[in-house]
Amino acid sequence: MRNPMIAGNWKMNKTPSETVELIEALKKIEVRSGAEVVVCPMTACLCAAAGALKDSKIKLGAQNVHFEDKGAFTGECNAATLKELGVEYVIIGHSERRQYFAETDETVNKRTLKALESGLKPIVCVGESLTQKEQGITNEVVCLQTKVALLGVGEKIDDVVIAYEPVWAIGTGRTATPEDANDTIRAIRGAVREVYGDAADRVRILYGGSMNDKNAHDLMAQPEIDGGLIGGASLVAEKFEKVINFN
Ligand code: PGA
Repeated sequence: MRNPMIAGNWKMNKTPSETVELIEALKKIEVRSGAEVVVCPMTACLCAAAGALKDSKIKLGAQNVHFEDKGAFTGECNAATLKELGVEYVIIGHSERRQYFAETDETVNKRTLKALESGLKPIVCVGESLTQKEQGITNEVVCLQTKVALLGVGEKIDDVVIAYEPVWAIGTGRTATPEDANDTIRAIRGAVREVYGDAADRVRILYGGSMNDKNAHDLMAQPEIDGGLIGGASLVAEKFEKVINFN
């Protein structure tokens, strides 16, 4: 019922020419899984990426968006610019933004609302830290993050994608077991259902955190996992291809 999504988060990797090179390689992939494929390059590479993606089914995503329309916000990027560049999705509240750039649940909510108001589809990231996992409060943490992030979204809930990314699994080579990821994603869907009712069954919830060509099949076999947000393994076309064709 939910169309799978495989999104590459290229973080602060790839120059504009390297971005184009990787996109050219990805364009040759035959997507047999039926997944919607999204790539999220660095902000400064979006223009080059948009050019390379012309006439391709691969969608363009950004890694962040500011919550104000314009003004004195040095170093930020507004939604109107992303729209003009042909961006369709935007990652919001990635744990690296929360950890290094003081992103909070409240700013995640503001960015999410601005993205939706501007016609961008947010990929809202939630996830517990290692300490929280060890304290056994994973579900409480991710459900609260989800509810705050989605406050006031209203009917636009259908444009929202959520990514469950346990912080301890990101870039570490440690992946949540498929069963654990599935259970946590079920809890997140439950939190969405509490506020948005049956729309929860339509919202795609991805897994992220050391998902790669080796484990994508098992993760994607879980009924609650609707896709993946892929960091490291999305930077190499051959590996990303295997994630895209996870089945
Ligand atoms: P990773 O990153 O696949 O390198 O763990 C995932 C992410 O941060 O989105």
